[in-house]
Amino acid sequence: MDFAATLQRHVAQTEHGLDRCLPPADARPARLHTAMRYSLISGGKLLRPVLTLATAEQLGLTGDAAVPAAVAIECIHTYSLIHDDLPCMDNDDLRRGRPTAHRQFDEATALLAGDALLTEAFVILARHYADRPRLAHALMGELANAAGSRRLIGGQMEDLLAEKRPDTTAADLEFIHLNKTAAMIEVALVMGGLCAEASPAQIEILRSVGHHLGLTFQIIDDVLDATADTATLGKTAGKDAKANKTTFVKLHGIEASRRIAREHADAAQAALRSLPGDPSFLTALVASMLARSR
Ligand code: IPE
Ligand code: IPE
Ligand code: MG
Ligand code: MG
Ligand code: MG
Repeated sequence: MDFAATLQRHVAQTEHGLDRCLPPADARPARLHTAMRYSLISGGKLLRPVLTLATAEQLGLTGDAAVPAAVAIECIHTYSLIHDDLPCMDNDDLRRGRPTAHRQFDEATALLAGDALLTEAFVILARHYADRPRLAHALMGELANAAGSRRLIGGQMEDLLAEKRPDTTAADLEFIHLNKTAAMIEVALVMGGLCAEASPAQIEILRSVGHHLGLTFQIIDDVLDATADTATLGKTAGKDAKANKTTFVKLHGIEASRRIAREHADAAQAALRSLPGDPSFLTALVASMLARSR
């Protein structure tokens, strides 16, 4: 398995899908559609769509049937970043090496572009899986649940509340990470599995991969915020300490955070190896999350 070539193949398939599934920039109102594309097609790592495509492939799906699912997930992820960066939330000026949506356009346009991307995700699923109603139903249910008030949004709410609470515990932080971040990573794997007709037992294994990989990913995000530079990250470094966020680095320090991230990566890899198919790409992708610089 050539890791770089396989990654590039999944990234290219995602980029093509993003361009194909989204309304054109000049569709009325052009300002809104331009803002949606500005944030969506902007050099993100595309981790979640790559997870969807690679999971489907490991479980035996060939062709591009999982691409719309992958695109829908990236729409929701990008909307969550647009809103996360707003002045009323993390108040960030830089995202993916460019001005954040509210800096490039204005706050109202950024808010609406986020709203529209959230909704568009479900339009894409409804349109592209219309001939497979059971699959469409399962994909929509999983995605709505992951993006909803008990998961992504619940995690974001508690992340903000924890800024004002000095007594936030490790258990509180785990709730935040499992929901604001792991939920979308988990659903990326699960939707790949659903597209490949995975069994219920295999779906549960994919949830466990997502749980552990999600924690690895957000712990490293916290470490990078404290250790990397803004130019490499493509987003402002050092913001968590400034905003008094409760992070892994704050509670455990950098060394212990890296060790815990590695333990969760090991658990994710072990779960991947218990699934059918060749796990070599996905296990290498998990390993690469420990060494990432952005
Ligand atoms: C950033 O996600 C938000 C977190 C959950 C930490 P990514 O680091 O995947 O951001 P992009 O999509 O590559 O910009
Ligand atoms: C994750 O948390 C944000 C979302 C789930 C949208 P962060 O606030 O740490 O993400 P970054 O660091 O701004 O990318
Ligand atoms: Mg945040
Ligand atoms: Mg943020
Ligand atoms: Mg962060």
